Amino acid sequence: MTDDPLPPPSPTPHSGRPAARTTARTAAVIPAAGRGVRLGPGAPKALRALGGTPMLIHAIRAMADSRAVSLVVVVAPPDGAAEVKALLDTHALPDRTDFLVVPGGESRQESVRAGLDALPPGYDIVLVHDAARPLVPVDTVDAVIEAVRDGAPAVVPALPLADTVKQVEPAPEPGAPERVVATPDRSLLRAVQTPQGFDRATLVRAHETVTDNVTDDASMVEQLGLPVVTVPGHEEAFKVTRPLDLVLAEAVLARRRLNDGF
Ligand code: CTP
Ligand code: MG
Repeated sequence: MTDDPLPPPSPTPHSGRPAARTTARTAAVIPAAGRGVRLGPGAPKALRALGGTPMLIHAIRAMADSRAVSLVVVVAPPDGAAEVKALLDTHALPDRTDFLVVPGGESRQESVRAGLDALPPGYDIVLVHDAARPLVPVDTVDAVIEAVRDGAPAVVPALPLADTVKQVEPAPEPGAPERVVATPDRSLLRAVQTPQGFDRATLVRAHETVTDNVTDDASMVEQLGLPVVTVPGHEEAFKVTRPLDLVLAEAVLARRRLNDGF
């Protein structure tokens, strides 16, 4: 996915494409302030262990593994910033990466916003990556960055759907039969993942302008009327949401350990 070298700066500035941002610095914001209600009772989701290491540390390493990422902003559970700082001190992380920890908010959107507010100047590209996607491969991270460097204001990793999707009329109570009203053409649907990558100014404007409740950052950029493009996602970038996802995550880690030979 990252076999192609980055393109050289565009020799024709009036070619109609935005100038390639080949020298832009990249920061990653990791919203990790959620409770993890669907995972069941226990510590905040990002602090739960996978293969003996907190999910958040896996997610931070996944971002810091990209040589393009020079700053990671972790948005901690509102009362957990000290605990997260201690985790960063006690786990090995690349020296070339800087880290910041800020407290999060009530919604994912507020948490991302807190991370954006803490970003120092000098970073023109921002990734937003769920702590709940601890196993995203570095090639996917690099593909997102490359597409933003190429001029896209917003980039999402996306996969085709395995299941057919139905649109329903919600039933009055949970569990009651719901009436199906439509079956969208599956070939035109994509499941999107993180990291989502952005031109920083665009993402900041989206967070200042859009007040609707959204479940991802790219949809805010869509609401500004700006183009959002996809790059291929990866099955290992799945979101740990329910208990069975923990089983899958442990299996992926075990397979990696086998393949790495340790
Ligand atoms: N998140 C956040 N602040 C919130 C809510 C969510 O930073 N107030 C983060 C989560 O920590 C997670 C990401 O947003 O990394 C995606 O959210 P989700 O998977 O829904 O996690 P939770 O909200 O923690 O889970 P649940 O919805 O089951 O409670
Ligand atoms: Mg949630």
